[in-house]
Amino acid sequence: MLKGKKILIGITGSIAAYKIPLLVRLLVKEQAEVKVIMSESAKDFVTPLTLATLSKNPVYSQAFDRTTGSWNSHVELGLWADLFLIAPVSANTLAKLANGIADNFILTVYLSTRCPVLFAPAMDFDMYKHESTQTNINCLLKRGHQLLAPASGELASGLCGEGRMMEPDNIFNEIKHFFRRQNAFNGKSVLVTAGPTYEAIDPVRFIGNHSSGKMGIEIAQAFADAGASVKLVLGPSAIRVEHPSIEVFPVISAQEMYDACTALFSGSDITVMSAAVADYKPVEIADRKIKKSGENLNLNLVKNPDILKKLGEQKQAGQYLVGFALETDNELKHAKQKLDTKQLDMIVLNSLADPGAGFGTNTNKVTCLTKEGQQFDFELQSKKELARKLIQLIHELTGKNQANA
Ligand code: CTP
Repeated sequence: MLKGKKILIGITGSIAAYKIPLLVRLLVKEQAEVKVIMSESAKDFVTPLTLATLSKNPVYSQAFDRTTGSWNSHVELGLWADLFLIAPVSANTLAKLANGIADNFILTVYLSTRCPVLFAPAMDFDMYKHESTQTNINCLLKRGHQLLAPASGELASGLCGEGRMMEPDNIFNEIKHFFRRQNAFNGKSVLVTAGPTYEAIDPVRFIGNHSSGKMGIEIAQAFADAGASVKLVLGPSAIRVEHPSIEVFPVISAQEMYDACTALFSGSDITVMSAAVADYKPVEIADRKIKKSGENLNLNLVKNPDILKKLGEQKQAGQYLVGFALETDNELKHAKQKLDTKQLDMIVLNSLADPGAGFGTNTNKVTCLTKEGQQFDFELQSKKELARKLIQLIHELTGKNQANA
């Protein structure tokens, strides 16, 4: 599983640094290629010789190595890695990572790296809980980096609480899990819809909604990161999507979204419809701006096609179809009805009653219901993290379906 994977480890100054040689050993035993960068203060806790011996590679600490007179390129090292793990990461380094400060070799490599980043904090309980540390962690999470959350336990200070670096065995499992996830959708075609639709009233006005498209875009990105080839049908959204494995089909109205989805659906193994589609549109679009006249203005609306329902009717064996339900009351009941009437495999229920969930926020909290009657609840978390968990669930469920077929 790890054979040939290039793993770069940045070690910063924390007592937990003494545990990293164990991790390096586990990784090398699984035939991963490991290179280590140490901050100067990390060397107070573990020696470069130990790490060089175990990793079978030179250990880096500076761009210019005075002993050999050679230059270590931070750009090359950053591009070499399939994964950059920073462990242990001290409060000081967290703050610098969050703010783009580049005053040591780990930090310059971090700024040059394009691969995914995992980080495992280690520090005293009060430092970990401090608002500034938590803000810095959230900043890294928003960038899409993965937190290897510290455990609770006895700390070097003698205090007890959260702050102990995740144990090397567990970090090792997280790394294996990371690479497993990365290939989970290799060879799969995925169709995702995201964003609102705008239904024109006249050349300057439309009927729309507050959807930002964020949740669907995160889902598309999570699938693409996991190896899928993704087609994203995207309503008007301010978010730019740039991913080599995502092809974007920009649309404005529900009818345009319908046309794009029905054309793409047959080639898709998995379809996730997260767009907030306008249910109605004006019967006629005025070709000139409607002028202000009487006290009231009545708009005559007609129903838009239900795209998801149509795809449910067209679904073939082996295709997996996921819808979203946005509800404000009787949430579970309404979501189950949509699951049935639209012939879905799974529905993701969003309740606007939950604080932090729904439109425009960076976080979300959802419940997934499957046609087999299972229910999966996901706590409030970043949309990025939630997207990863949703695709992981889809991976498990589609894997089981194939096994049962
Ligand atoms: N949907 C769709 N086409 C529509 C309306 C909705 O494809 N014309 C999809 C959405 O993308 C979502 C699911 O159907 O995946 C449920 O959308 P939602 O707005 O919650 O429900 P509606 O079916 O529109 O019903 P209601 O507005 O009455 O709750």
